[in-house]
Amino acid sequence: MNPATASPHLSVAQPFLIQQQWDAYTEEQHAVWAELVRRRMPQLREHAAQEYLDGFHAIGLREDTIPNLADVNRRLSPRTGWNATPVSGFLPPDAFFEMLGARQFPTTTYIRSRESMEYTPEPDIFHDVFGHVPMHAHPVFADFLQHYGRVCAALMHDKEKLEKMGRLFWFTVEFGVIRQKGKVKLYGSGLISSHGEGTHVIEGKPEIRDFDLDQVLEQKFLVSEEQKVLYAVESFDEIYEAAQQAEKRLA
Ligand SMILES: [Fe+2]
Repeated sequence: MNPATASPHLSVAQPFLIQQQWDAYTEEQHAVWAELVRRRMPQLREHAAQEYLDGFHAIGLREDTIPNLADVNRRLSPRTGWNATPVSGFLPPDAFFEMLGARQFPTTTYIRSRESMEYTPEPDIFHDVFGHVPMHAHPVFADFLQHYGRVCAALMHDKEKLEKMGRLFWFTVEFGVIRQKGKVKLYGSGLISSHGEGTHVIEGKPEIRDFDLDQVLEQKFLVSEEQKVLYAVESFDEIYEAAQQAEKRLA
């Protein structure tokens, strides 16, 4: 499918849209994907939020091959209207928020090399698709993320407010945890896609606080270090509500 016709509402993000050349992935690249998935799944079966695991199966991710985004979208889009849309790399904020507002998740197609299995500074398809996209099959999370994008798009003129919204993203989408059956479960993509970060949480190293929007909006974080504090929600309704409240407070 041509992304230009798939994304009629995108303007700022248009120059960053690419095609995924799925046939061009090498056997070695599929093997890297397989190794990354097999390394994460035993921990995630026990410690990931049920909604993540359900999403993983719902969108048809496989352990042995890099996902073809057209196949993912055929399953994902009818559920929540979201698509994993291939992009050329990091997006400027206005393009990123425009895509979220249109239920298009900017997805890199590149996969890390075997030399950087644990950490890659640039996002790759493992972080973006394995880490993020399964949650987009969950209707409440799906609505939250679109609303988040719209709120941020309207705050583009205000750096300080945008920074606060960045913290909301960090402590939910990237490093979110949820309490389920008395246990802390992972749903943020940074925890899902990184064995080191996931293990750090499971070993009880970060302080887990109850989710509180005021605290989250003020909570500074370092991208390059393991997280010292995380915020646990009781249900995904809480982050949806948080995006609504943030909009009221920062508008
Ligand atoms: Fe991410």
